[in-house]
Amino acid sequence: MTLLQIMSDTDAGDVRLRTTDAEVIGAELSRRGILFDRWPALESVTAATTNEQLLADYADRLAELNADGRYKHIDIARIHPDDSNPDWPATAAGARAKFLAEHRHAEDEVRFFAAGVGCFYLHLGDEVLATVCSAGDLVSVPAGTRHWFDMGARPAFVAVRFFEEEDGWIGDFTGDTIGEQFPTLDELVAGTAAGR
Ligand SMILES: [Fe+2]
Repeated sequence: MTLLQIMSDTDAGDVRLRTTDAEVIGAELSRRGILFDRWPALESVTAATTNEQLLADYADRLAELNADGRYKHIDIARIHPDDSNPDWPATAAGARAKFLAEHRHAEDEVRFFAAGVGCFYLHLGDEVLATVCSAGDLVSVPAGTRHWFDMGARPAFVAVRFFEEEDGWIGDFTGDTIGEQFPTLDELVAGTAAGR
């Protein structure tokens, strides 16, 4: 599910917009300077799809996005439930916790979701834009933008990451606990409480 929920940054219960219309999502993000695009979602992409296959499947799109050679490192981040592994819950919780607090990066955070789901929370002025991305969604969070990311209680996604520098993923954490006041990815998708 692709979803945009816009809330007041001081009151998660003040929901100003909630939509699953990709065109509206693109327009709302665009007028705030956020790139959002949709590439064809390939049903053939699963947790078992190799990185090589994925990069080959999207070779044309990747080349187009990186026509100016801006991204020197393109890799794949993936996580998928493995209930046969007793360490999985801890692994999942650790991965989820990593970027759950508000932070920013020195370069744009560019992600293409080939499968699964994840939510970027963009803190822009007096708004928080919870942007749930799913298969086919490309988003670019501009450098310096305060944001956080939730992969949910049961993380499952395959995402292509684009970096200008090898350490471009490093987060500068603001120390603000604002993220705790907003609905989680799972709550957003379920369409339950606006706050928690
Ligand atoms: Fe980030």
